[in-house]
Formats: sequence, C-alpha cells, structure tokens
Amino acid sequence: MSGFVVAIDGPAASGKSTTARRVADRLDFVYLDTGAMYRAVTWKALETGTDLGDQTALGALASSIRLEFRSGESEVRVLVDGEDVTEELREPRISRAVSEVSSVPAVRRAMVRTQRNIGAEGRCVVEGRDIGTVVFPNAPVKIFLAASLEERARRRRRELSDRGVIQGLEALMEEIRTRDAMDSEREDSPLRQAEDAIVIDTTRMTIEEQVAEVVRVAQAALPAASE
Ligand code: CDP
Ligand code: CDP
Repeated sequence: MSGFVVAIDGPAASGKSTTARRVADRLDFVYLDTGAMYRAVTWKALETGTDLGDQTALGALASSIRLEFRSGESEVRVLVDGEDVTEELREPRISRAVSEVSSVPAVRRAMVRTQRNIGAEGRCVVEGRDIGTVVFPNAPVKIFLAASLEERARRRRRELSDRGVIQGLEALMEEIRTRDAMDSEREDSPLRQAEDAIVIDTTRMTIEEQVAEVVRVAQAALPAASE
C-alpha cells in the first residue's frame, strides 16, 4: 500500500514531534518533522545574512537548499547542504525567527512540494501546522494535539534545561504565545484544526498515553485504507 499518512498538527510544544516519532516507530512508518524543515530554511537564512523581509530571496533559498534527514538512535539528524544542524535548529534564535520565514508563500510552496513527494512514497507520520488542512487534506488519520499554554511552556523549559539552556517560564509563555499567534493568523496555510481531525488535549496526559491513543486511531484506520 502506498501513501497512508497519519497527519499530526498542533501548536508549539503540544507534543507533536515526540508523539509522531514514537508512533512511526511503533507502526514502522516513516517519520517527517515539517517544523524542522522550516527551521532549516530559517537557519540557512540567518547563516547567509538573508533579509527576513525579502520574500523573493527566502523563496529562492528554500527552493535551492538540500535537506537530508537521517534516523539516529533516539532522534532524527537534520542536514542542510551537508552540514548537521540538528542541535542548532532548536536554539531560541531560530524559534524567534521561524514564523516570519514560514509565513512566506514561496517558502511554503517549496516545502510542501518536498513533503508531498515524501508522503507519496509510503506509510508515514507527518507532523506540523497545516498537514491535515493543506499538505495532505485526504489523510486517513488526522490528529490535532492541544495543551494549555502553561503546560507547553513547562515542557519547553524542561527540554531546554536538559540541553543547558535556561529560560524563564514567563518568557517562554510569551514566546510560544507570539509564535502561535503568528502561525494562526498568517494568510497562507494558517495553523488550524482540520474539520475532520480528532482533537487530543494532552495537558494531563503522559507521552505514553498520547502515543497509545494515536496508534489506536491509526490502527483502526489501516484496514479500511488497504481495502
Ligand atoms: O516544535 P515546535 O512546536 O516549537 O515548532 P516546530 O514544529 O519545529 O515548527 C517551527 C515553526 O515552523 C512553527 O512555529 C511554524 O512557524 C512553522 N511550521 C509551519 O509553518 N508549518 C508546518 N507544517 C510546520 C511548522
Ligand atoms: O513537537 P512539539 O513542539 O509539538 O512538541 P515536542 O517537542 O514533541 O514536545 C515538547 C516536550 O514536551 C518534549 O520534551 C516532550 O517530551 C514533552 N512532553 C511531555 O512532557 N508530556 C507530554 N504529554 C507531551 C510532551
């Protein structure tokens, strides 16, 4: 069977990446983190001193960079034009700039093209903001992960402090609130829940619980898709 997509969308730090990676492992599907793709374009733009207000330059950059994903032990390594930038992609400077870059239609067109090519190859779990609404509107499984702003900021703080980056809860809440607003209010492919998505509020759930729930939904849809 080809092209079975589990689409997972939701706001920042709702648990998309962790859930998607584990669900993909469990089901033996390919995992695609589309947020990492927008972060990679942002990294390249900052690295090359590209003006973030220059949409033409950003579009050209997005069409020309070479993105590679390599599965590691517990994470996926991301290479941009041959350089491993996995750790840098999560830095606050990238988080602060990424929504401006991802709002550029030419950047989105280039990324969506790549995402659809990967999705057409087989079974995959794809996570982002517009996967169930725009990239794969016919995906047989659509999940929208939600969680309170405070809980999401706590998660992000824990994640950053594990990597030695200390950021206050208030500052993180503000950063996440701003990014969610930009992502939800942009004209091209805003963050929103697909009408036919299943919403899972993870505020009081463990990772294991949310993974089990998504696996259950995906497994229920699999037999119908292979008929
Ligand atoms: O992990 P976190 O939720 O913080 O963010 P991410 O998934 O790495 O996404 C980073 C940014 O990329 C988002 O804030 C969006 O601006 C953009 N993005 C997007 O526009 N469309 C997607 N499908 C995925 C991410
Ligand atoms: O991809 P997204 O930004 O939506 O979230 P993530 O990177 O998967 O999750 C952010 C952090 O929250 C990770 O360190 C997860 O392990 C953690 N998390 C958690 O502690 N409990 C949950 N129920 C979900 C995520």
